[in-house]
Order: sequence, then structure tokens, then C-alpha cells
Amino acid sequence: MAKKTSTFICQSCSYQTSKWMGKCPECGSWNSFTEETTVAAKDLNRAHKRTALGGEAPKLINEIVLEKQFRVVTGMGEFDRVVGGGVVPGSLILIGGEPGIGKSTLLTAIMGRLSQSHAGQTVLYVSGEESVNQVAERSKRVGVNADNFYIYNETNWQKILEQINKLQPRFLVIDSIQTTSSSEIDSAPGTVSQIREVTYELMNHVKANGITCFVIGHITKEGSIAGPKILEHMVDTVIYFEGDQFGHYRILRAMKNRFGNTNEVGIFEMKESGLDEVKNPSQYFLDDQLKESFGRSLTCIIEGSRSLFVEVQALVVDNKFGNGRRTTHGIDNNRLSMMVAVIEKYFGLPLGFNDIYLNVVGGMKLTTRESDLSIIASLLSSYRSKPIDSSTIFVGEVGLTGEVRSIPQMEMRIKEMAQLNYKRVVTSEKTARELKGKYDIEIIGLRQARDLDQFIGK
Ligand SMILES: Nc1ncnc2c1ncn2[C@@H]1O[C@H](COP(=O)(O)OP(=O)(O)OP(=O)(O)O)[C@@H](O)[C@H]1O
Ligand SMILES: [Mg+2]
Repeated sequence: MAKKTSTFICQSCSYQTSKWMGKCPECGSWNSFTEETTVAAKDLNRAHKRTALGGEAPKLINEIVLEKQFRVVTGMGEFDRVVGGGVVPGSLILIGGEPGIGKSTLLTAIMGRLSQSHAGQTVLYVSGEESVNQVAERSKRVGVNADNFYIYNETNWQKILEQINKLQPRFLVIDSIQTTSSSEIDSAPGTVSQIREVTYELMNHVKANGITCFVIGHITKEGSIAGPKILEHMVDTVIYFEGDQFGHYRILRAMKNRFGNTNEVGIFEMKESGLDEVKNPSQYFLDDQLKESFGRSLTCIIEGSRSLFVEVQALVVDNKFGNGRRTTHGIDNNRLSMMVAVIEKYFGLPLGFNDIYLNVVGGMKLTTRESDLSIIASLLSSYRSKPIDSSTIFVGEVGLTGEVRSIPQMEMRIKEMAQLNYKRVVTSEKTARELKGKYDIEIIGLRQARDLDQFIGK
């Protein structure tokens, strides 16, 4: 009989203590300790024989014959792009995202495609969260029609393993890792010990049998995958599915990939019939209806290897009762404060008593500084109630002395702008000098942000 001991484990960093604590001394989280019954490792090893990877004698690196990495294309182009051109058999792919963002929908659609392209093989979707009917209803809605697609409603790992051994699936989904638990461990599902145990078992099984396994992971309110980082360390690929739950677009982003780079993003649109790939997203986030309104300007950002055009909207209004409010959506609040300070200093406009709202249309998040010029242009346009020509794009960083700085990957953006028939791009003087005349678009270089004045209200 395995010897059991009771331990308190921090659910965010897996720090262990023998008694309950209010605050974790390791990661500083409050109220994060849960009592878990652990089994001594040597007993656990004896209790159920593990098929750990390798187990052979060390080999010389030159003696190893490299096999060409084989990839399976799922047929969902945006997903394949993110994982580096297809999934690798025997790998574990973790997909995390907010509740209701569409994780199950995405995997149902991917499994549907795989079941069609691998007709002789089995696909197994294990759902611990929804009934077989719910999964089947969704599968029909997204257009899955295959006779090798199994749905299994189970949360117990040992029973799941039994079915895996029986059905020998080539592709497997575990929806979700937090609801799956092993009967070898007494702790509740979703606790550190359970997640560690189930992932370890899953990893060994998947690698030994060449199964491609997709695991869905819940995320915490801070936005990281629930449970300790150990889950992310163990799997081969970690992908986050993000976006505005009430908006219609979704972005798939790789955070870790043992088989490819993590620069690419996949863009989808949520529809009644499931997730639609957005194959040509560059102008997807624009709204053409508002050409003549003020307080809006366009910028161009890079996501993965593609350029996207996004609209930055600003609203500047008087506040007669005290200090102005600053509210942003999709842009860091501190960045807005910096741009407001630049306007106050170099345009001589007192914005201290104005309420300022800033929004990126479509729920996109701007994380780099390339959109500084666009932020300032939108703010000025709103303050002066004068529109900006909608065939002008603003791309450049603005420093604290009001200087306009060049940013990387400008040529790629300008090429795309020229292709889409935008008339002009306003950017740094350096970029203009380097790229002037190369493409069929007017490139205007600014030395100082205050030179932006000429584009407002023309
Ligand atoms: N009948 C429907 N028509 C259109 N859209 C639907 C329909 N049913 C669900 N959806 C969309 O699918 C989303 C839920 O997708 P899904 O269940 O795949 O999310 P999830 O990330 O797996 O959520 P959870 O974390 O709860 O498992 C809903 O937010 C909704 O936008
Ligand atoms: Mg789900």
C-alpha cells in the first residue's frame, strides 16, 4: 500500500508546505494553498509501472540517425500556420483561452477535418465538461460529418486510457485537463497534483504511441493557464486562443513551440457555423463607413509575418468638474499618458481638464510603440473636431522630446499599403529617406511629432 501524506500546495507556483498558509512565500499569491494528498514517489512508481520516455543507454549524438520530421496538415490553414506548418505525431499541444472563447469549437472543427483526411484512422474527443449530446450538437453545427469520430464523456483518466487502448486513436482531444483526474491521486480535479499526474501519464502514452494530442486548458483571471507552469513545461506546444469574447474575431497565438517558431498568429471569425478562417486579414479591422468622422486615424501593425491595418479612435471632451479621466481599450494607459504629455508640451494644448477615451477598433491590442503617431493624430483630430484623410496611414514611435523614430519592418508595411492603394504614409524622416520612390505610395517623413498638424483637417 502506497504511503500517503497530506501537503498544502500553492496552486499558482506549486510551492509545498506541511501547514496551510494565507500567503505563498514563494510567489506571493494570497489564499492559493489547497490540501492535497500526495503519495511518496517511490511508492507511486511501484504502484503503477510508468513507461517513461527513453530508458535506453546514453547515445553519441553523431550515432543518432535523424528522421525527417513528419507533419500532419490539419487542413485549417490558420491553425497550421501557428503550429509551424502542421502538427507533429506524438506531440502534446495545449490550447488555453478564456471561457466561451471557442476552444472546444476550434478543436471540434480541427478534429472534423482530420477525421475526413484520415478516413481509415480513429479520432477521439474526450469531453469532461459537456455531455455527448452537446459535443455532437456542436459538431453538427460546425459541419463535421465522419464515421471515425468518437466522442467520449469521461473525466477519469484510467477509464479514458482504457478507451484509448481500445480505439487506438491517431488524434486525441482532452477537454479539459482541469476536469480530468486520476484515481491514483486523492486530490480534487484541477489541483496541482492531479494536473501533474494526468499530464505526465498523457505525455508518456502519447509519445510512445505516436498519437497527436490536443489538451484544452482553462485560464486564470490573470490570463495564464490555470495550474502551475509545470503544465506548460511538459507539453510541446502552448497556444493561446484570445480575442474579445463579444467581438467576432479570435486570434490564435503560439507561446511555446518545440517544432517551430512562435511568431505566427492565426486569425478567425466566430460565426453560427463555427470558426471561419480570415485568410486575408490586412483590412479586416477597418470600418469604411466612417470616412468623414473625426477622432480616427489608421495605423499598420505586424502580427506574425503579416501586416494588419487598424483604426485608432479617440474622443477628447471637456471635463468641467475636475481632473480629466483617461480610459483606454487596446492601448496601454501609460502610453496614452505619455502621448498626452507630448501633445501638451509640443503642441501647447492644455489637456489636463479633458476627458480622453482611446479605443482600437475590433478589440485589437496594440502592444508596441509603432502606433504612437496614430494615437497623437487621433487625439488632435478629436480635440479640433477635424477629420483625417482615410487614405493616410500613420506609423512611427514618438519619443519624449517629441521626435519621431523609425521602427522595424517598415518596408513590409509600405509594400502592403501600396498594394492596397493607400495614398500616403506618415512616418519617420529616416524611413522616408530610405524608402522614398521604391513603392507606389507617397512617403512623408516627420522629424517632430508637432509636424503632424498639417494632416489634421485637410
Ligand atoms: N448556436 C450557436 N450559434 C452561434 N454561436 C454559438 C452557438 N453556440 C455557441 N456559440 C459560440 O461559441 C462560443 C462557445 O464556444 P466553445 O464552447 O467552443 O468555447 P470554449 O472556449 O470551449 O468554452 P468553455 O471554456 O466554456 O469550454 C460561444 O461564446 C458563442 O460565441
Ligand atoms: Mg469548451
